[in-house]
Amino acid sequence: MRTDTIHRAVRTLRAVAALGCPTAALAQERTPVVPGPHDALVAVGPQAAHIGQLWNVFVVICTAVFVAVLIGLVLALWRSGRARESDPADLSSLGRHERGPYLSVVSSVVVSAVLLLLLVLGSVVTDRALAKLSLVNPLNIEVTGHQWWWDLRYYGDSPSDTFNAANELHVPVGRPVVVKLNSNDVIHSLWLPNLAGKKDLIPGRTTVLQFRADRPGRYRGQCAEFCGFQHAFMAFEVIADPPEQFDAWVAAQRQPATDPSDPTLRRGQEVFLRSSCIMCHTIQGTIAGARQAPDLTHVGSRTTIAAGTLPNRPAELTSWIANPQDYKPGANMPATPLSGDDMRALVSYLESLK
Ligand code: CUA
Repeated sequence: MRTDTIHRAVRTLRAVAALGCPTAALAQERTPVVPGPHDALVAVGPQAAHIGQLWNVFVVICTAVFVAVLIGLVLALWRSGRARESDPADLSSLGRHERGPYLSVVSSVVVSAVLLLLLVLGSVVTDRALAKLSLVNPLNIEVTGHQWWWDLRYYGDSPSDTFNAANELHVPVGRPVVVKLNSNDVIHSLWLPNLAGKKDLIPGRTTVLQFRADRPGRYRGQCAEFCGFQHAFMAFEVIADPPEQFDAWVAAQRQPATDPSDPTLRRGQEVFLRSSCIMCHTIQGTIAGARQAPDLTHVGSRTTIAAGTLPNRPAELTSWIANPQDYKPGANMPATPLSGDDMRALVSYLESLK
């Protein structure tokens, strides 16, 4: 079979599989942001390419077995129909040891065993290939899963170079990334289909995911382990930047927020520091240093809020702050009732934190 025929068949099967995935359908329906591609068959790094090849092997073998079984079934029904037509009362062959069916069963068992062994072999080869990613000069990131958002910590050469972000994972193109995974509450799973396979985040145990992005772009990620009511809205984006663009982003993220001089922004900062926001969030450069919720030091530079649930625009941010439960029922963030002017000032201040 030619490669493009295989790819066409795989795409069709994938579309059929997507019809049966209510979580993906719901997430698409309620997420008004335009996410990057979320596609395990469009590999932008070596890890996803290995997994994609294994997937193709599985699809081809399983489809061949499925078709062979259907053909066998149709043949058996056709032959039994013909036998009944010729002499419905002839039961003389019952209980006789027939060579034909005996050979069919034995050959089917042998072929099944060989195919299963091939699938096991393919899995082992892929597993070994995944472990061979070159880790020269890696970028070290720690990702902690929370219900229902992602806490990101980028490690630098010194503690002062280390900084936190949330829900948007920037990585440099062409450089290996080593992600240490932890969870703060229940089991989550980090899944970046265009870049790597899934890896669980388990409370009390650190796991590691390694990948490399070879093409710049935005790639959607998703929590892939049911972790509670808002599991479907625990998404994130991986933004693969060319190295110099990534370095500029890192340099900006390491800076604390500057004190605003504009009166509206100053009022927004005061609102933030005297309302319940300060109980859970951090803004570096202010007295807000709580770690229960996403670090907001550079929240204005992100494209989405609430872990990929809403676009980061003033109208959506206002609605989110006023009543997060409208968008993510069960989320830990409480409603923050503010006057119109206070809300406008707060949203302007947060959007200014680039
Ligand atoms: Cu976190 Cu599902």
